[in-house]
Amino acid sequence: MKLSQRSGTIAQSEIRSMTRACNALGGINMAQGVCDLEIPSEVINGAKTAMDKGINIYTPTEGLPRLRKAIADKMERFYNLKIIPEQVLVSDGATGAFYTACLTLLNPLDEVILFEPYYGYHRSTLLSVGAVPTYVRLESPQWRLEMGVLESVITPKTRAMVLCNPANPSGKVFSREELEEIGAFAERHDLIVFSDEMYEHFLYDDAVHVTALSIPSLKNRCVVLSGFSKVFSITGWRLGYAITATEVIEAMAQYNDLIYVCAPAPLQIGAAVGLEELGDEYYIELARIHQIKRDLFCDALREAGLNPSIPRGAYYVMSDVSDIMGTDDFEKAMMILEKTGVASVPGRAFYHDDAGKNMVRFCYSKPLDILKEAAERIRKLR
Ligand SMILES: Cc1ncc(COP(=O)(O)O)c(C=O)c1O
Repeated sequence: MKLSQRSGTIAQSEIRSMTRACNALGGINMAQGVCDLEIPSEVINGAKTAMDKGINIYTPTEGLPRLRKAIADKMERFYNLKIIPEQVLVSDGATGAFYTACLTLLNPLDEVILFEPYYGYHRSTLLSVGAVPTYVRLESPQWRLEMGVLESVITPKTRAMVLCNPANPSGKVFSREELEEIGAFAERHDLIVFSDEMYEHFLYDDAVHVTALSIPSLKNRCVVLSGFSKVFSITGWRLGYAITATEVIEAMAQYNDLIYVCAPAPLQIGAAVGLEELGDEYYIELARIHQIKRDLFCDALREAGLNPSIPRGAYYVMSDVSDIMGTDDFEKAMMILEKTGVASVPGRAFYHDDAGKNMVRFCYSKPLDILKEAAERIRKLR
């Protein structure tokens, strides 16, 4: 059968082929981002109890009122923001929430600014709704935002921009000042800002998460996306959400209903219980453990001469592989895999051109013993 033109544009081929090659070698897969921590018992038991109590049928497409309220309360607890539950849409992961948001807010051929290196799903989602990504490159190791570059990509067709904060893959955490500059820019050009804050609790050193919703100039023009996949280690539960203006949520709900109907009913209760019952120590420990893992793995990369750009958030690290043999990022990633048994993602997965040809990304959210083994192997590259 002949595939649609659309279907060819959204392949995640690099991550998949590295995973295949890694499995064939019995290697350590640091290509894929799967949070490895244990699921909090509150979350598991909350879902189990909900199943036993018969919460197994469709929920309102916007999500169960209890979870929408728990998400609104969470925004007050962590960011001192007053959100009403009607501003929240629960969807099938942040992935579903972003797709629904794009279907609701973008027209075909609208231009949308993406920061490079980008998270591949952001680009693919834009392409799948017929939007046209335009690119603003942030350079390692600081990933500093140059407002002049941002201004230079604006055209009459620019309709939105996508932020990933903390960023996958760079680990950049946007400061309040940067977000205020972005807010002023968005206001000047009347842009929507999609802000993917999936890694909001994965912060290191003195990094602080500033949600787009707390920036006055962004408050009424942003859609914040986040979810439970990473924070509760439940990537397979498919639970995420969007927070934005109630009238946008109402429109998004139509697409959410069409595509997903609703997020899994008992699992929504599990997430709500997690939000309600887990204390601050849970979130502090999450960041602490990941900082240990970051340091352990970045030390090994540095010793191996791979010049990591130290992430301040999320759990990925971009490394410079200029000195590794191979003509491009794919060959270099394969060379690392063959020599060490550690799989990474070739840099091309995060750039629309060949700017990633001397980069690879590692995901360090691995069990500590496996990470130590991976670090030992990487050191041997020296
Ligand atoms: C930046 C970012 N957003 C969203 C997701 C996916 O979230 P979900 O599992 O809620 O769809 C990921 C997963 O890797 C991610 O890195």
